[in-house]
Parts: sequence; C-alpha cells; structure tokens
Amino acid sequence: MRKALLSAVAAIGISISANAHDTLIHAGFILNPEDGSYTENQYILIDDGLISEIGNWAERPHEGVDQKIDLSDKYVLPGLLDAHVHLTGDSQVHGYKRLTRSVPRQAITGVRNARRTLDAGFTTVRNLGAAGYADIALRDAINDGDVPGPRILAAGPSLGITGGHCDNNLLPSEYKVKADGVADGPWALRAKVRENKKYGANLIKFCATGGVLSKGTDVGAQQFSYEEMKAIVDEAHLAGMKVAAHAHGAKGIETAIEAGVDSIEHSSFITDAGIAAAKRKGVYLSMDVYNSDYILSEGEKAGMLEESLAKERVVGKIQRESFRRAVRAGAKMAFGSDAAVYPHGQNGHQFAYMVKWGMTPLQSIQAATIHNADLFGLSETVGSIKPGKHADIIALEEDPLENIEIMQSVSFVMKGGDVHKD
Ligand code: ARG
Repeated sequence: MRKALLSAVAAIGISISANAHDTLIHAGFILNPEDGSYTENQYILIDDGLISEIGNWAERPHEGVDQKIDLSDKYVLPGLLDAHVHLTGDSQVHGYKRLTRSVPRQAITGVRNARRTLDAGFTTVRNLGAAGYADIALRDAINDGDVPGPRILAAGPSLGITGGHCDNNLLPSEYKVKADGVADGPWALRAKVRENKKYGANLIKFCATGGVLSKGTDVGAQQFSYEEMKAIVDEAHLAGMKVAAHAHGAKGIETAIEAGVDSIEHSSFITDAGIAAAKRKGVYLSMDVYNSDYILSEGEKAGMLEESLAKERVVGKIQRESFRRAVRAGAKMAFGSDAAVYPHGQNGHQFAYMVKWGMTPLQSIQAATIHNADLFGLSETVGSIKPGKHADIIALEEDPLENIEIMQSVSFVMKGGDVHKD
C-alpha cells in the first residue's frame, strides 16, 4: 500500500514527508518453530504486509513508523495454519438439519466462521470441501477485503463415489439428491478435477473411505478404486493442485497413499504398514483428535444421526491410539481439525489433545506452522516469523511450550500486517 501510494504521489509531482515504515512491533519472546528457541526483546518491522526486518530492540530503527505495537511482555508466534476446516459448515447443523441450509446461507455462515477462525489465531487454512463453490466465493471476498478471515486454500466440492461419504445420502431416490462432486470412473473424475480447477479451486479433496457423519457409509470401507484415485491425483498434480484424501479405514488409507495423495485426513485406522508407506512417500497425516469429544457430547443436540454417534464411539478411541503410534514412528504430522464438526474458533483446543496423545508442545506447534506450511506449498510465505514472509503474527500471554492450553486463548492477531485482534 505504502509503496503504491508514495509512487502515485511522486508521479503527480507532489512531495510529502512520509514515515519510513508501516509498523514496528516490540516483541518480548519470538518463537522459532524450527527448534523451539526464543529470541528475546526484538523488533519486527512491517512494510506492505510483509515482515521487512527483525532485530534486537536496542538497535531498532528510529525513523518514523505509522504504527507501534507493544508486545514486549508477550510470546510471539507465527500465525497458525489449519489443514482441514469447513468454514461454510455449522457445528449446530448436522444430519437432516443440513438439508435446510441453502448454499447462499452456507456462504453467510462462512463469513461468520472466517472471522472466528482468524480471531483464534489461524491466519491460513485449507477449506476441504464446500457445496456450490461457496468456499471459493468466501476466499475471494476475504482477499478483496470485503470481510475479515484467514487466507484460504479452497477445495470447492469434495469428490466422492455415488452413495459415499462425500455424497449426500439423506433422502430417498425420488428426491434425486446428489452432491456436486460425485462421479464414478477415472475419466469422469478427471473431468471433476478440471471443473473444480475451472471454478477456482486451489486443491482437491476426495473421500477414500466412508465416514462418521454420512448416512449409510462404513468408515472401514474403501471408496474409489485405485484407478479412480490415481486419475484424481494425476489430473490434480498436472494442474498444480495438491490432493487431500479423507480416509478412516486402513485399506483406503494405503490405496490413497499408493495413488500419490499429499495428505490423509483423519487416518483413524492406519496400520504400521500405512504409517511406513506415508513416511516413505512423504505424505502428511492430518488427524482431528479433538473432534471425538465434541461429537459424543454435543452431536445429538446438533442433529447428528444415531448411526454417526455409534460410529464415533469406535473411531475416536482408535484414532487417538493411531495418532500416538504415528507420532512415535516419526510420521509427518499436519494440524487438521475438521472445524465445522465442532465450533469454528475452537481450533486451538486441538493442541492440548495432540500433546495428550503423544506430541511435545513444540511438535504440536510445528504441525500448525512449519509443517502445515510445507503441506500447503507455502513454506516461502507463511509458517514462521522471517523477513520476506507475510506479517501473520499472533501473541500469547504465556509460554505455550510450558502451557499448551494457552493456544486456546490467543490475545493478539495480525494478518498481512493488519491488526485483527488486539
Ligand atoms: N468428517 C469426519 C467424518 O464424518 C469426522 C470424523 C470425526 N471423528 C473423529 N474421531 N475424528 O468422518
């Protein structure tokens, strides 16, 4: 903004005295998520939405700045990343209640949830599935500055088999309901990938097994043949898009890894062989270990089917044990919460669960910063506080390496140099 303004002013021959920098932050303790070290008493300079300089506070620049921010007693972290959200979904609206929500209504729900997500310190998210390309509209509205929200990588409609987890199976056949992303057969799926790309998707999501919250699907059963998954992945990768596969059952997980996906979502029944395959192929595991508690305590009120609650009673426990095994085995772990199942804005609750189920606090923060940045293909621009990266910065009252629960109460949020919460 500043550069554009100054050059516009220069072009019409007016000289103005302007401050040299947009923003100067005084940071108490800056976390380096690579190694868990803190640098104390630093300054961070921000220009045009990017971090331009970091250094010792005693050597801070003394020319003018437009805005000074005092975080001198705070723990300062990069903005967080969540690899799995559904911003247009509502935690109070599950099961048959969902049939009452039009796509435009879902988009408006998304506006509310985008703000809550950013409030919680999540400055970049992958939206893994939305009807009617509502997530793409939301992403674009945020980028245009119409509404506040995180940076969004949007998948558009999730791809799935007829009658699978990514279809909508709530009504009998005479209603002719079929989710947007349903297709069967490799070429039909290639066409779906091309269609999602055409309407603005950044990545592709597909369902490789049944799920908890869908009607009539078996969490253990693979969905799509290997040929179908391979067609999706090849076509997406040709178009420069990454692929996220929803998969609970072991066979679906292994087939999706073999087909070349970039992340497995949920990963509930992953075997040791599956973990080894994920490691060999560099596939990230994104495991929503907070979800189960919410589903089992609030799900019924929110309209979840009895069938879903029954499935969850099995899936939740096993998923958490699988998480522990995957962490112990050194698998690449993403931070993916599946917000929308539970209320948006509570994304940060998952850190403590990840720690409870086997990670160190630093590992859980790495998952939501540098590792997710790598999974998103955005390592150059987000995930750590470094010159040249987006000024996506959050602050905490306490040291999260000592008290991981503080990740639930982020007190300051900046995205792209703009203060969103103070
Ligand atoms: N969207 C997922 C599904 O319906 C949610 C699974 C939540 N359960 C869990 N234990 N993570 O399958």
